[in-house]
Amino acid sequence: MSETVDVTKVPLRKLYTGASMPAVGLGTFGSDKYSPDQVSEAVYGAIKAGYRMLDCASVYQNEDKIGKVIKRLLDDGVVTREELFITSKVWNDQHREVRKAAEKSLADLGLTYIDLYFVHWPFPNYHAPGCDGDSRNPDSKPFSVEEFMDTWRQCEELVEAGLVKAIGMSNMTVSKLEKVLPLCKIKPAALEMECHPSFQQEELFDFALRHEIAPIGFCPIGSPSRPERDRTAEDVADTELEEVVAVAKNHNVHPAVICLKWAVQRGLTPIPFSVKEPQYISNLKCATEDPLTEEEMELLKKAERNCRLVKGQVFLWPGADDWNALWE
Ligand SMILES: NC(=O)c1ccc[n+]([C@@H]2O[C@H](COP(=O)([O-])OP(=O)(O)OC[C@H]3O[C@@H](n4cnc5c(N)ncnc54)[C@H](OP(=O)(O)O)[C@@H]3O)[C@@H](O)[C@H]2O)c1
Repeated sequence: MSETVDVTKVPLRKLYTGASMPAVGLGTFGSDKYSPDQVSEAVYGAIKAGYRMLDCASVYQNEDKIGKVIKRLLDDGVVTREELFITSKVWNDQHREVRKAAEKSLADLGLTYIDLYFVHWPFPNYHAPGCDGDSRNPDSKPFSVEEFMDTWRQCEELVEAGLVKAIGMSNMTVSKLEKVLPLCKIKPAALEMECHPSFQQEELFDFALRHEIAPIGFCPIGSPSRPERDRTAEDVADTELEEVVAVAKNHNVHPAVICLKWAVQRGLTPIPFSVKEPQYISNLKCATEDPLTEEEMELLKKAERNCRLVKGQVFLWPGADDWNALWE
């Protein structure tokens, strides 16, 4: 029989809405490397092993397959719907028709509600899935508070209609949040942000906690299998950083596991991706045992290298200098 993790030992995060969210979720973006079938089979194994949170998105092009697996899990009596915490996200080309996008995700996932629905990026700038890093869309535009709030209003209506339990923002900055938060009727319950030892985003992380917005960390291991378009010569590998490797030696585990323990203990909810059973089991189990010491947490703070991996350059608009413009 496959190994399982004691679900009762996985820490929970309380959202301001009152809902509970597991402190580790399973990422479902196959990074152009893993097929929808591979990802959805991993979802089955991961939930059977003890995962209760899935990070989904329409742009990952596998929600229909994941929906079939969720049905199988419910039919097999592995979990109940109420025990699961499922996220999805509206993609950039559907900012003007959020309800339609959410209804498609609900149908694909086979759900009557989504627990947390994100605006995936704060720009309506579209690029085709899998396009190369140099491609640009001439219709792309810089961030507009007005346009973003129009999209957010549609998200608020989804909560009011009962289609989603909570809404969140993703790929935001403190400056953008300061502009939009005072305009929200329904505040975001969570913020999805890139976060790993070499890119800790301390200011944004602290801002989220101060505003009772749960920070969820993507690329928590430093996304070693990310697509070519998201790689540059300056990038560092989190699992090779001296601080991470030193702590991994203390605990006799893979450095990936240290990235996750650090995230969970910091108060972040990491959403590591893996289709490999031993990996996804250790990624959840590590949150239930053998915590890092205060000294190790301090040492890992020093792993910061300001290394943003998902730069988002394909969303740049004509006239923008470089990808830093997306993160102002
Ligand atoms: N909101 C957004 O804009 C956004 C952006 C990016 C990602 N995300 C979400 O975040 C999730 C995670 O990000 P990510 O997939 O880019 O990066 P990640 O979780 O940091 O890295 C995943 C890769 O790490 C390796 N790995 C996983 N567990 C391991 C272990 N225990 N030991 C050794 N290696 C391990 C695997 O590589 P191998 O497969 O090569 O073994 C796996 O493919 C995505 O799936 C997606 O749900 C959201």
